[in-house]
Amino acid sequence: MAQNTPLNTEKPTRNIYQFGEASEIALATKNLHVFYGNNEALSEGDLQFERYKITSLIGASGSGKSTFLRSLNRMNDNVATVKGEIMYRGLDINSRAVDVYEMRRHIGMVFQRPNPFAKSIRDNITFALKQRGMKDKEQLDAIVESSLRQAALWDQVKDDLGKSALALSGGQQQRLVIARAIAMKPDILLLDEPASALDPISTSQIEDTLLELKEKYTIIIVTHNMQQAARISDYTAFFHMGKVLEYDETRKIFTRPKVAITNDYISGNFG
Ligand SMILES: Nc1ncnc2c1ncn2[C@@H]1O[C@H](COP(=O)(O)OP(=O)(O)O)[C@@H](O)[C@H]1O
Ligand SMILES: [Mg+2]
Repeated sequence: MAQNTPLNTEKPTRNIYQFGEASEIALATKNLHVFYGNNEALSEGDLQFERYKITSLIGASGSGKSTFLRSLNRMNDNVATVKGEIMYRGLDINSRAVDVYEMRRHIGMVFQRPNPFAKSIRDNITFALKQRGMKDKEQLDAIVESSLRQAALWDQVKDDLGKSALALSGGQQQRLVIARAIAMKPDILLLDEPASALDPISTSQIEDTLLELKEKYTIIIVTHNMQQAARISDYTAFFHMGKVLEYDETRKIFTRPKVAITNDYISGNFG
């Protein structure tokens, strides 16, 4: 049976139950199982995500990547049954003590298809902030600018902030959605194939943006594009039939994977 590879065998093992804000582990799952009805779509999902790193989740279609990712900020509530632990700052995010909306400010999600609101560029970013009671125009303007700058969109839209977000190109919309997530000042950004609907130039811009964002955020990205995983991620987890078969530094996964099925997948033999 395949074994999960420890994240990093050179470093001492950390006790995931004790990690706190200062720890290098931003998020950890323990014995995660996800069921759609009776169908177990994910089993044995044990991963630790290192702070300020990009971790890619790869694997064939249907292997459970999105199921896993969506569990990390409770997008599977009311859709699936999630068992096991998802530890964030010493708390299980599924515990009753956790306010799901507050938690999603810390753990933000960007989906495959850009989903800007049918509002202006500015309002896309300020909407949630205003809902939370922020009224100060200068403060809102400052967040609009800094979020758009971090998402590498500011220079292109700064004179058109009142324009509808729906008038932007697909790649610009995806960067706006990233800016919208950043405006909430999250710790962790989850992205589910964020570039799969985009052309190669927009894809490369998104990749550059993510590489800059990892200075400040912990990034977990599902991608079916193995070159993308190899280009941008520090760690890669390989999913196969609802299990994490291998998890290691990206360069190891792509040069000398330990599990034969991983090698088959990255060699393009299935998927
Ligand atoms: N909302 C859902 N309801 C029922 N089954 C689902 C749902 N979403 C995903 N599945 C099933 O769970 C398994 C894993 O799917 P998914 O996590 O989407 O895989 P991936 O993202 O790796 O392509 C598949 O068998 C899929 O059909
Ligand atoms: Mg998916």
